Parts: sequence; C-alpha cells; structure tokens
Amino acid sequence: MNMIGGCDLRDIANRFGTPLYLYDAARIERNCHALRDAFNAHYPATDIFYAVKANGNPHLLRLIASCGTGADCAAPLEVTLAERAGIPREKIMYTGNYESRDDLAAAARCGAVNLDDITAIGKLPAGFDGILSFRINPGEGGGSHPGIVTGGPDAKFGIPIESAPAAYRLAVDRGFTRFGIHLMAGSNNRDPLFFARMAAILCHSAADIFRPLGILPEYFDIGGGFGIPYAEDETPLDLDAMARAVAATLALCASQHGVTPPRLRIEPGRFIVGDAGYLLARVTAVKKGLRRFVGLDAGMNTLIRPALYGSHHRVTVVGKETPAGMATLCGRICENTDIFAADIPFPAVTEGDIVLFHDAGAYCASMAFPYNGRLRPAEVLCDNGKPFRIARAENEAEFMERYEA
Ligand code: LLP
Repeated sequence: MNMIGGCDLRDIANRFGTPLYLYDAARIERNCHALRDAFNAHYPATDIFYAVKANGNPHLLRLIASCGTGADCAAPLEVTLAERAGIPREKIMYTGNYESRDDLAAAARCGAVNLDDITAIGKLPAGFDGILSFRINPGEGGGSHPGIVTGGPDAKFGIPIESAPAAYRLAVDRGFTRFGIHLMAGSNNRDPLFFARMAAILCHSAADIFRPLGILPEYFDIGGGFGIPYAEDETPLDLDAMARAVAATLALCASQHGVTPPRLRIEPGRFIVGDAGYLLARVTAVKKGLRRFVGLDAGMNTLIRPALYGSHHRVTVVGKETPAGMATLCGRICENTDIFAADIPFPAVTEGDIVLFHDAGAYCASMAFPYNGRLRPAEVLCDNGKPFRIARAENEAEFMERYEA
C-alpha cells in the first residue's frame, strides 16, 4: 500500500516527517454514513454521539460533526473540544466516571449527562436543565480483550440495575424532570447480537425503573463498542444485522410494556475513526540479535495498544511486500514491552524504510504520551489527495516550557 486518501505515503513521510499519524477524510465520512444508514433503515429514531476519547483531534471532530453526529465527552476538556467544533448543546453529552464537582460543572454545559453513580447527583450544579441519566452496569459485558470490557462484575463503571430505581427516585425528588438511561458494556465488539442483548437489558430495566415513578425516559443509550476487524481473518461487524436486531428488540420490548419505543442513542468511537487512521514510522535500525529486530522511530509512547492490551495492528512496508523471514518490531523506548509485533513474517528492510500500522485512527494518537524523551507525533489529514497538517509534532521548546516556574 503506497497511497492513502489519494496521498502518496513517501511524499507524506518526506514532507511531514515521521512518526506521523495519517487519516483518510473520505473513510471517516464513509464510516459515519454507514452507521447512520444502518440505523436509518431499521430504527430511524437514533442519534449518534461520537465518543471524543477515541480521537479528539479538533479537525477530525469538525469533520465528524459535519456528518451530523453529536459528541459524547468524558472530561471537561472534551466538552470544550465539542463546543469548539460547533456542536450544539443538545448534541453534546457527558459520560464520565467517578466525576468530581468540576467535571460535573462542565457536564452541566451539555444537553445530557449520564451519571456513573447516585452520589453524583448531589455534585451536579443547581439549575442543570438537561437530560439526566444513569449509567447502569448490565451485569455482563463484552469486548475484544479483558482490558476493554466495561460491564459485568469486574467493571468499575455504572450502578447495578437493582440500585437504579433509588437513583431515579432521588432525581425525581430533587426536581429533575427529564430522563434517559445508559449503558456501555464493552469496546470493539463485532457480534451484532451483543448490541441487541444490551438493548433488551436496558429496555426491560427501564420499564421496571420508570413505571413506578410515572416518568418516561427520553432516550435509551446503548453506548459505543461497535468493533472493527484488526486482523486479516476477522470479519467486519454486520451493521445491517446489528441495527435490525437492536430495532426488533426495542420494538418487542416496548410492545410488551405497552410504551412507544423511545429514541435510541449510540456512542461510537472506534467504528468512525479506527480504520481511517494509520501510523507511519521509519526504520531506524535492524539488529540481527537472538531474533531479527526491526527498530522504528515510533514506540509504545506513540501507539500503546499492543503493549497495553496485546492488540494486533496489521503492518506493511511501503514498496516492499514480500516477506523475507520473521521479525520483531519495536520502538526505541527503554522498556521490554515496547514491542509492536513479535516474530511476524516481514520483508527485508533497511534504515529509512517506511512502515505503516493500519487501523490506527482510534485510541492511538489520543493515547500517545511523551516518555523517554520521545514526544508526540504530528498528524495529517488526507482529503481527496490533499494533505493537511492537523497537529504539529510536539517540540522540545514546548516540552521544556511546562517546567518554567
Ligand atoms: N461511550 C463510553 C462511555 C465509552 O467509555 C467508550 C469507550 C465509548 C462510548 C466508545 O467506545 P467504542 O465505540 O470506541 O468502542 N483504549 C481502548 C478502548 C477503550 C474504550 C473506552 N471507552 C482500545 O484501545 O481498544
């Protein structure tokens, strides 16, 4: 693969330097529309709130917002990012956890807040007039690895379903009048029926919670989690089957409880940006040690997913396709977990070759951090063959500035 979004990878690497995150604008738009179309076909009363944490680059946020999505924010800075992207208040939502008073002061600028616990109610600023919702822990979860399962007994998120009636009762007693209900049970899930199961749990729980209180929720929010294939042999999430199953589940549940199905909210992050991003790195050194090590100018500080979750990212070399034995790809960080891939078939490479990590649009640039004196990389957006730098590489002067008293 030598071109992305109509941009030549060698030109991009020469012009903007490496390591570098590169995004394909058309792909982001296509992903937004694919998700929107699937729900329009089966459950048009669906609102999409992009999970800013997946990639909060302000330029990407503006692009994503231009497809009509709102934003789901997890911290005050993410609320500011969403506001600056021009997203109107009613399309900005806050889903935090263990929220502080400052967090909730920012959350109150949003049209809706999904609270992580009953104790958060007392910390919401007086006068919040948006939609109040609690995140419930559905008692089970499902993600592609244990580190990203966010529901079930080991998850730190949300309240048990049994505690929800008391939480909403308290909210009613405190004078709140607009309600939603939320869950988010796992990330990178490619099983269409998982989402329907979550919708069922949410809908049946809602009936038990809200009927005694005589109130109706304005939305059911089943969170994000829509997975993408990272490995060659993984199949994509069947969006049509997923949306169809969710719609059928909600229709059945609503009819069983004699209510009209409410609006649905979803909070996709990875699905929108994941496969639209790439990390470009250059080979700095090849070592014939006990294995063949290929050292890169990117490290675990640039792309931490392999080190943190054992995640797999497809890797290719620009202009070199044929494998010539096995190699272990690593960065220059002084940690032995600074390994991107161990013993994979890999072409014969030399210093300066450009290595491309695929599916690096979500939770990659946003999780980059400076370590070992290696700073965060630049980011470039390719829009129909035109590259735009959308983030400078961090530089030494900026880094040093923080320490000036
Ligand atoms: N909504 C909430 C409340 C979330 O916590 C998350 C992700 C999302 C939506 C978006 O989930 P998505 O659609 O992207 O699966 N760093 C990990 C993923 C952590 C997910 C955290 N929460 C990774 O690199 O795989």
